[in-house]
Amino acid sequence: MKADVLLGLQWGDEGKGKIVDVLTSKYDIIARFQGGPNAGHTLEFDGIKHVLHTIPSGIFHPGVVNLIGNGVVIDPVIFEKEIIDIKALKIPMSELLISKKAHLILPTHKLLDAASEKAKGKQKIGSTLKGIGPTYMDKTGRNGLRVGDISAVDFNTRYEKLKQKHIQLLNFYDFEYELEKLEKDWFDSLVTLKSFDHIESEHYIHNALKNNKKILAEGAQGALLDIDFGSYPFVTSSNTITAGACTGLGIAPNKIGEVFGIFKAYCTRVGSGPFPSELFDEIGDKLAKVGNEFGSTTGRARRCGWIDIPALKYAININGVTQLMMMKADVLSGIDTIKACTHYELNGKQIDYLPFEDNENLTPIYKELNGWDMDLMQLESLSQAPKEVHNYIAWLEEVLKTPITIVSVGPDRKQTLYR
Ligand code: GDP
Ligand code: IMO
Ligand code: MG
Repeated sequence: MKADVLLGLQWGDEGKGKIVDVLTSKYDIIARFQGGPNAGHTLEFDGIKHVLHTIPSGIFHPGVVNLIGNGVVIDPVIFEKEIIDIKALKIPMSELLISKKAHLILPTHKLLDAASEKAKGKQKIGSTLKGIGPTYMDKTGRNGLRVGDISAVDFNTRYEKLKQKHIQLLNFYDFEYELEKLEKDWFDSLVTLKSFDHIESEHYIHNALKNNKKILAEGAQGALLDIDFGSYPFVTSSNTITAGACTGLGIAPNKIGEVFGIFKAYCTRVGSGPFPSELFDEIGDKLAKVGNEFGSTTGRARRCGWIDIPALKYAININGVTQLMMMKADVLSGIDTIKACTHYELNGKQIDYLPFEDNENLTPIYKELNGWDMDLMQLESLSQAPKEVHNYIAWLEEVLKTPITIVSVGPDRKQTLYR
């Protein structure tokens, strides 16, 4: 058996959480492979709206195993809050396992994130300030603390040592902070983290694959936020792409099956960095309003724009996407002419790729397609959709050379149309 992967193809918030929840009934294991509480994955069903940050989006399906993989970074305080929030819903929660090799976000990692952003001034990344960058720095710098370390006898000593190093760095930044309360909350919350099974998850995954269990690896962020291939330095600090599922769960590349690429029918970005097809007009405002484009983690307004074909092609290639899933088609209703960026103009030349230099100075070149008026949110089948919707889908499939198998027309589980 091979593991399938589901990930975002744009700058995050494509609707990954919704689709993982929709697909979970077909799987035995849902496994998050990278990122941390910078993610906000929203699910809606039976009138309940819920946002998950660290916990995989299969958690509301009893009988399924949810796994937080070694590639994830965990803030015990946020993790505890997620558990409390899920329990408050009083609906059954499925089994949750955590990799011993997942790294811990310390309170001082969060302070370092804030200090680094402050020092960057106008050049700031627009980080979610959850401590993601500093935690992955300690991971690759070989200084990090991991979930499996929590029960070690020298855990507190190692914590203190890393904290002292961080304090020296904070002094370098000349950054004011209050650590005592953050630290107390952090140590208190370890109790909840300890109450779950900590496992060597790569072995668990290998056995599951051997026993023909069906695994869906859930990505966070999106391809254009990938540490290697995203719009560096305006990226996150992990590999958000299919290869990240290999390193973040211990799945061999030849054991990857389907790769589901999730994208919005338009495009959004939260935080700083280039966004060639960004809109600053009333259509941009309309997308933000109708699409309710506010960050699920930070509440920040998301920047909105037209779909970007060169960027999507790039993401499809890097991820080896086998199926596309188009989200938020309903949000485009009522727009007379839909535009799609097919090329960029740079220094008088047309290009169809994201260049290394000057990616702040790209002028988008658009193809225009007819829009539609019909509200798609009530549709029960795509056959009821107007011809302009079908034309948009057919054109996207033609240029992206990949089939679109799901079209989402609302935030609820039920508002999911299959092709
Ligand atoms: P994720 O990070 O990729 O899981 O996406 P987020 O949850 O951060 O953002 C997606 C937002 O769009 C959430 O508020 C979802 O409830 C909502 N959403 C998902 N699919 C659709 C859709 O097809 N139509 C509309 N209108 N909203 C959707
Ligand atoms: P999900 O999984 C959208 C963005 C931040 C910032 C940059 C770096 O919900 O799609 P970080 O906190 O990682 O240091 O921030 O990445 N970012 C996201 N944008 N969705 C996300 O996750 C994001 N996670 C990080 O806004 O620009
Ligand atoms: Mg999100």
